[in-house]
Amino acid sequence: MDSLQRFQNVTVIGAGVIGASWVALFLANGLQVVVQDPRAGVDAEVRGYVDRAADALRAVGLSPDSIASGHERLSFEPDLARAVANADLVQENGPERIDFKRDLWQRVAAAAPKHALLLSSSSAMPASAQARDMDAPERMLIGHPFNPPHIIPLVEVVPGAKTSPEAVQDAVAFYTALGKTPQVVRKEIGGFVANRLQAAIFRECVSLVAQGVVTVGELDSIVTHSVGLRWAVGGPFASFYLGGGDDGMRGFVRQFGPGMEARWRSMEAPVAFDEATSKTLFAQSDAAFGGHTRAALEAERDARQIAILQVLAVLDAQRS
Ligand SMILES: NC(=O)c1ccc[n+]([C@@H]2O[C@H](COP(=O)([O-])OP(=O)(O)OC[C@H]3O[C@@H](n4cnc5c(N)ncnc54)[C@H](O)[C@@H]3O)[C@@H](O)[C@H]2O)c1
Repeated sequence: MDSLQRFQNVTVIGAGVIGASWVALFLANGLQVVVQDPRAGVDAEVRGYVDRAADALRAVGLSPDSIASGHERLSFEPDLARAVANADLVQENGPERIDFKRDLWQRVAAAAPKHALLLSSSSAMPASAQARDMDAPERMLIGHPFNPPHIIPLVEVVPGAKTSPEAVQDAVAFYTALGKTPQVVRKEIGGFVANRLQAAIFRECVSLVAQGVVTVGELDSIVTHSVGLRWAVGGPFASFYLGGGDDGMRGFVRQFGPGMEARWRSMEAPVAFDEATSKTLFAQSDAAFGGHTRAALEAERDARQIAILQVLAVLDAQRS
């Protein structure tokens, strides 16, 4: 049976920034979706998000019929036990607090069918830590997306110490069937891979702005006109392999390694969101982005992101 048939009934726990985007993607793939989120007004908000996501979902190639009929397959159930009672799969997107996640998974395990696949969108908290108090953690693991999950391809699939190999395979098959690019991460580590990279880079972004080397707006322009474009087509290793000339990575390390090590050593001073740094970041971010609504900024981001994905999809199709 194909994954989307097997996991037809999905429960989305927590429907804020990430949950609402998953809802839009699941509906556009023809799934039945129950949302569990106690927040007042969450139903109208999620339905509004689903409507706003429709253009993007059509642009990434999902069925116009499934997108149009999405609302008919969407329901809201504030009671957790009732919300998961019929779930084939749970995608959790609640608050990023370990006490919340531990308590939640215990309650989900008691109320969901035994075959249900239990996935957390957590940005940083490993499955072993979340599942510590669960009776049967074999089907619980991380399915960490990148914002917004209905557009960005990557999902980090990270099993815990007690996750079964079958659950990992099921998660990979499910996300692949949704059109995502799942990547199994081989060891548990806080922040997984993509967010550790973002943390390392953002540390330097904050430091450069705090030192007055560039403003927030200037830094973003430098990134989108250089490493952002570069890394959309080749990762850091592929990029530096070419930077090393005919000798590839060996040439890179020989020529640029000492300078890279010197810069690493110069980055050892602590960076923090202290009062002065926060004041600078907030004022400069307001100046750079505050003149636009969140919806307008998201629409602009999504349109550009989709344009890049579409061009890459054409090139991939020509190559294969
Ligand atoms: N924002 C991001 O860029 C991003 C990216 C990837 C993963 N994540 C992860 O996704 C999860 C959610 O993050 P977010 O940014 O969407 O947060 P958010 O604050 O936008 O949404 C959290 C939602 O959880 C709901 N909630 C609170 N208590 C609840 C409860 N008891 N039961 C069910 N729902 C409850 C809230 O009402 C809210 O709608 C976190 O684990 C986060 O690490 C976030």
